[in-house]
Amino acid sequence: MDLTKINKFINFVANYKYITLNTKLKLESFQQTSTIFNPSKNEVILELGTNIIIIYNKKTTKISCIFLDEIEYIQTEFFLLKPNKFLTPYVKFMIENVSQSLHHKNTNNCLVIGLCLGNVPNSLIHMYPFIKRIDCVDINGLLCKFYKKYLCASPVIHVYSMDGIKFIKSTKHTYSLVFIDIPCSFITKKFMSLINKITAPNSDRIIQINIIGDGDCKKIKENKKINENLFSNFNTKKKQIDSNLIYILN
Ligand SMILES: C[S@@+](CC[C@H](N)C(=O)[O-])C[C@H]1O[C@@H](n2cnc3c(N)ncnc32)[C@H](O)[C@@H]1O
Repeated sequence: MDLTKINKFINFVANYKYITLNTKLKLESFQQTSTIFNPSKNEVILELGTNIIIIYNKKTTKISCIFLDEIEYIQTEFFLLKPNKFLTPYVKFMIENVSQSLHHKNTNNCLVIGLCLGNVPNSLIHMYPFIKRIDCVDINGLLCKFYKKYLCASPVIHVYSMDGIKFIKSTKHTYSLVFIDIPCSFITKKFMSLINKITAPNSDRIIQINIIGDGDCKKIKENKKINENLFSNFNTKKKQIDSNLIYILN
C-alpha cells in the first residue's frame, strides 16, 4: 500500500477543524459553515462541493462520508491507515470472501463500481498486493477527484468518473473480480448482461453485488420482490450481512 497521497492528506488536514473545498478542490475557507456537523476533539470536517461531508478523525484515521441529500446513510467508513480493519460488515465480507479464490486464481483485473472514498480498492491492495489492476468507477466527479488527489493507495488503482453502466459499455478490459455497490435501481437486465460480457464467463470470475443498502432497495426488501431473473446468466449465491444482502455470482 502506497501511503504517499494519504500522508499528504494527513498533513493537509493536520491544523484545521473545518475545511471547505470548492469543485476544483481548492481551499475556500477554514470557517465553520455548516450547523449540522460540529467537529469533536481530533475531528476535522471537510465540506466537498454542496452535498458531500467528509468527517476525519486525526487520531484514529477513521474517515466517513455522508451525502447531505441522503443524510440518513453513511456512504462509507473506514480507517485510512488500516483499511482492512473494517467498520462496514458487508464490505468486510466482500473483501474477505475473495481471499481463497485470489490465492489460487490468477486474478489480474478487478472492477469496483461505486468508489466513494475507496474502502474497497484500498483494502484490496492492502490485503492482496499482487492484484495487477483495479478500475474504480463513481458517478460523482468530486469524490473521484478527491480520492485521486488524497486517498488513492496504489498506482495500479485507476479511477473513472462516470455512470457505472457507461463504463461497462465502453471498457476494453475484462475483469475476474467485480464489486458493485451502487443504488439497486441501476442494476438492470441490461447492466447484468454487460457485466456478463466484461467478466470473461469462460474463466474464473467472482461478481459481488450489495443489493440492499439504500432507500429504493428497502422498498424491494419489504415487498420481497427482488427479481432474481436478473442473475439468470450466473451461478448465484446470496448472503445476508446485517441489513445488506450480497449476491455472489460466477
Ligand atoms: C455506498 S457508496 C460505496 C461505498 C464503497 N463500497 C465503500 O465502502 O467505500 C455508493 C457510491 O456509488 C456511487 N454511485 C451511485 N450511482 C452510481 C452509478 N450509477 N455509477 C457509478 N457510481 C454510482 C455514489 O456516488 C457513491 O459514492
